[in-house]
Amino acid sequence: MKVTSKANTNIALIKYWGNINEELTIPYNSSISMTLDKLFTITTVDFQEKLSSDVIKINNLPALGEEYQRVVDHLDIIKRYLNVEIEINARVDSVNNFPKRAGIASSASAFAALTLAATKSLNKNLDSQQLSFLARRGSGSASRSIFGGLVEWTKGTNIDGIDSYSKVLAPKEYWPELTMIILILSSKEKLIGSRVGMQRSVMTSPYYEAWLKSIEKELIEVRNSIATKDFNSLGRIMEINSFKMHSLMHTSSPPLIYWNPETIAVLKQIFSFREKYGINCYITMDAGPQIKILCLQNDIQLIIDKLNNSFNNLESGQRLTHVVCHLGEGAKIINTHLF
Ligand code: PMV
Repeated sequence: MKVTSKANTNIALIKYWGNINEELTIPYNSSISMTLDKLFTITTVDFQEKLSSDVIKINNLPALGEEYQRVVDHLDIIKRYLNVEIEINARVDSVNNFPKRAGIASSASAFAALTLAATKSLNKNLDSQQLSFLARRGSGSASRSIFGGLVEWTKGTNIDGIDSYSKVLAPKEYWPELTMIILILSSKEKLIGSRVGMQRSVMTSPYYEAWLKSIEKELIEVRNSIATKDFNSLGRIMEINSFKMHSLMHTSSPPLIYWNPETIAVLKQIFSFREKYGINCYITMDAGPQIKILCLQNDIQLIIDKLNNSFNNLESGQRLTHVVCHLGEGAKIINTHLF
């Protein structure tokens, strides 16, 4: 059966960076994220008896090498979980409305959409918890994109990962003013993916223990900040947590540096907006050079105007591409197929 799904991406407020069990994607720590309403993946899946192997297209091009294999492996995980004949193959087409492998969590929306469309195409109706559990196997952050709003992926306690899945902390309607401005500073694909990067940090950063020690408190504080809609507390903890993750990256061996010079230039500007003008805005960064600004609805225009002013004067003549996002909905089935 041909099925198409749409999943929004999400950005972590408390990050996931490392697995206790690499094969099962069981994380060292729980994480909390914001599902975004403007950045998404659409995926059509059709399992067909006559196909001798999976046929996969990503952004209108045939998927190759490692990218192809990751999708095939995830389809196999799904077939095994559902007790479906492993020999049956699928045609898969997937498109994103934003650059992939550039630190905007394209694997989160991609594997959430793939999990939903593939299970439905095999005629199985899984609940959101099961979908989140399965999506996690493709990409950890995908477990969060099954849900909308503010979401927590609980690391779980079971060694087989059976209780490692996400749940909604607050639905999207809870905090309509909460805004994330995504600044796209480069669309280049990263050289080292998150999976490999986090493995390296777990193995080699001398600060990994310290990261895990401080994260439990941050999780509690973020849950409280959400429950009380304390924006400044949420922003402050989110920002520190992101810098801690980047410290793990920088102290890995060899070091992982996902930033580029524009990243530093922009982040300094944003700090100055806070210090000079008292604008309430905080930043977070993932495995890529992009900067994400957390702010409230009322400050969006001011921040964008100030950024445009600053970067109009840059010698490189660089302009900033940005996408203004609010809380978005979880993964869903849609009726328009890609083939
Ligand atoms: O889910 P992955 O394997 O793409 O890793 C996500 C890693 C970060 O984006 C850096 C952090 C996070 O929690 O999303």
